[in-house]
Amino acid sequence: MTGRERMRRALACQKLERPPIWIMRQAGRYLPEYRALKEKYDFVEMVKSPSLATEVTLQPLQRFNLDAAIVFSDILVVNEAMGQPYGFREAGGITMEFPIEELRQVRELDHEGAVERLAYVGQTIKMLRDSLQEEKAVLGFCGSPWTLACYAVEGGSAEGFPKTMALANEDPAILEKLLEKFSKVLVRYARLQAKSGADAIQIFDTWGNLCPQGQYEKWSLKWILEIVEELGNEIPLILYARNCSQHLETLASTKINCLSVDHSQDILEIRKKLPPEMAVQGNLNPELLEKDPDEVKVEARSILERMQPHSGHIFNLGHGIRPMAKIECMETLVETVTNFAKTS
Ligand code: CP3
Repeated sequence: MTGRERMRRALACQKLERPPIWIMRQAGRYLPEYRALKEKYDFVEMVKSPSLATEVTLQPLQRFNLDAAIVFSDILVVNEAMGQPYGFREAGGITMEFPIEELRQVRELDHEGAVERLAYVGQTIKMLRDSLQEEKAVLGFCGSPWTLACYAVEGGSAEGFPKTMALANEDPAILEKLLEKFSKVLVRYARLQAKSGADAIQIFDTWGNLCPQGQYEKWSLKWILEIVEELGNEIPLILYARNCSQHLETLASTKINCLSVDHSQDILEIRKKLPPEMAVQGNLNPELLEKDPDEVKVEARSILERMQPHSGHIFNLGHGIRPMAKIECMETLVETVTNFAKTS
């Protein structure tokens, strides 16, 4: 069975001998061939060049038997296309060219032409589809409106995003306008990715867990659901929601096709509480890939065995792979998952 077919069946919660596997941030700094390209080009340059982005996307697939390619890009391309460029700090982390502090700046963000300026992502997806044909699934992605707003208001990465929290509490009208603009652009951006050949789109709500009790639905979920409603059945959607157990009942009642679970949660318990037509994705601890291949094998098998009786599982990490991950641990992980049915 091809990787594309396996992903399609898992998303439709059909029975499979083994789950499909792909990894969040599967292209990146843990790969020497990626670091070699980074000597020559900077990140934004690679993301914006369809041929370089295609090359980077395919790097992990040349080493590991993964079922899906995830387009090499970033969630912050959307902020950039609306007029708020991003970059990286020497010491690590994101820096935006300026923070969004006033309504005037929100008004100035250009949502009309944003998706046209993201045409390069569509071109990369087309090149990936041409190269991979039916063999592998191609996944697109975007940030949730709230997660994009966190970087936009904060002006970059910051522990707990304090400026964003202050604005959300003190000037909710500004936040609301910003979230509305992001949501509009994200619907069109998801359509661009679908039209270009993506099999599914993952929405990263990385910072949804920062919303205080009682505000998650208003600041984050509401806008994600607007996107879900708008897109209808156009393309399967995977939602990455950290600490999702707090909101499981609400999430279970949405039309999201797959819930991506982080490693602080028990994926089997979550599976049991979701409707049978909603798939789950996850959730090996990414730190394990920095340790010993034998440990990776034990933990991956434990997830596989516990999830085996249930349909609709996509194997993944609970968060992105980190630069210190070891190649031999990735090899063991992919082998453990792809050989699972044969050995059990
Ligand atoms: O292979 C893939 O998964 C596709 C590419 C991908 C990247 N970013 C490439 C990347 C994906 C899916 C993302 C998503 C993303 N980007 C998220 C949501 C997922 C998550 O991890 O929670 C977020 C919050 C971002 C914003 C972002 N971009 C951060 C926080 C960082 C790390 C900054 C740092 O200094 O560590 C990035 C940079 C980034 N995005 C890298 C990659 C490969 C590393 C850049 C480099 O080469 O130095």
